[in-house]
Amino acid sequence: MSMLEFYAAAIPGTETALCDEMHELGFASVRLNRGGIPFRGEPSEGWRACLTSRIAQRIQLLLGRFPCPSEQALFDGVAAIDWSPYLSPEHTLSVSAVCTASSITHSGFAALKVKDAIVDQIRARSGRRPSVERQDPDVRIFLYLANDKAAIYLDLSGEPLHRRGYRKDAGEAPLRETLAAAILRMSRWDRTSPLVDPMCGSGTIAIEAALWARNIAPGLSRPQFGFERWASFDPDEAERLRTMRGELRAAASSQSPRIMAADNDPDVLDMARSNARAAGVKLAFKERDVREMQGDQAAHTVVTNPPYGVRLEKSPLFCREVTSTFSRLHGWRVCLLAGTPDYERDLSTAPQFRRPIKNGDLDCVFLVYDIK
Ligand SMILES: C[S@@+](CC[C@H](N)C(=O)[O-])C[C@H]1O[C@@H](n2cnc3c(N)ncnc32)[C@H](O)[C@@H]1O
Repeated sequence: MSMLEFYAAAIPGTETALCDEMHELGFASVRLNRGGIPFRGEPSEGWRACLTSRIAQRIQLLLGRFPCPSEQALFDGVAAIDWSPYLSPEHTLSVSAVCTASSITHSGFAALKVKDAIVDQIRARSGRRPSVERQDPDVRIFLYLANDKAAIYLDLSGEPLHRRGYRKDAGEAPLRETLAAAILRMSRWDRTSPLVDPMCGSGTIAIEAALWARNIAPGLSRPQFGFERWASFDPDEAERLRTMRGELRAAASSQSPRIMAADNDPDVLDMARSNARAAGVKLAFKERDVREMQGDQAAHTVVTNPPYGVRLEKSPLFCREVTSTFSRLHGWRVCLLAGTPDYERDLSTAPQFRRPIKNGDLDCVFLVYDIK
């Protein structure tokens, strides 16, 4: 079986967490890289990555790399790839491009050239051409053009992998599930001791913690991945994928430590409850103001994403009161994905771990404190 080169795309700032995860999941030739993690394997390793990675945003397959000093070189390089395993004239496609430090500077134009080369190849073979579909294409193609070198990737994921399928309702500023999984790994939580998110919103962090603790593969709740829509995906492959899903389901455990999701907003807590039900995990829920937390129980890990922005500006005292509550949780580990510098400033002691992370367009910092 041929070894293929894949790429697991990461949210900026989560690359080391994704690299650790890919090593732990047993993928081969895993390398730490800015933006994502390359790995190698037979074709089904790409499927396994879609089903099992909690942190990757997308899994992509490298189809070709070539020098690309001109428009013609781009067209010829794409035309040299055999597209028939992926696309028939009945399929729809989308092409995205990123161009840096290259002769071709316009990404929209580069994407169009790639699309033309693919469509021309299929039309020359069959007399008909696949059409472009931006919202929900059967096949997604990516061009990365840097320093006049092109790399063409095919997406295996379809919808981005943070869309696990369990989150029907979201409150204000929900975290992507992949980012929640990344900060849980960075928190170094042991998956067996109690964990609490005291400002849980739609419950993403607590749900991802429970899925991880029980070894429930995150892709099992997804009805379909992108690779299942490729032209070559046949009933034999569908059967092998069903077997892989069955093995992953069998590897899940029913044991979970106590994981609590709390918030002071009862409507938001209702959403978290229904999301946890949809994800098939049991959490403890509590309606409580975070400032009433007490450190009088066995040490917990706190992983949370406190409010920021307009809501916070209305109450300048809030940060100070929250950080002073956290400072009284002696022996606990407190981990914050903070969207404002106020929490770090108010906690005054240096964090054990600090990592800038992009949360959508927002620059955040992930902070870990062992409270003495
Ligand atoms: C940034 S959101 C958390 C989003 C969450 N991580 C998710 O994925 O949906 C912050 C949450 O803090 C909650 N919150 C605000 N003030 C609070 C307080 N005093 N006590 C507890 N929760 C509070 C809000 O209701 C909101 O759900």
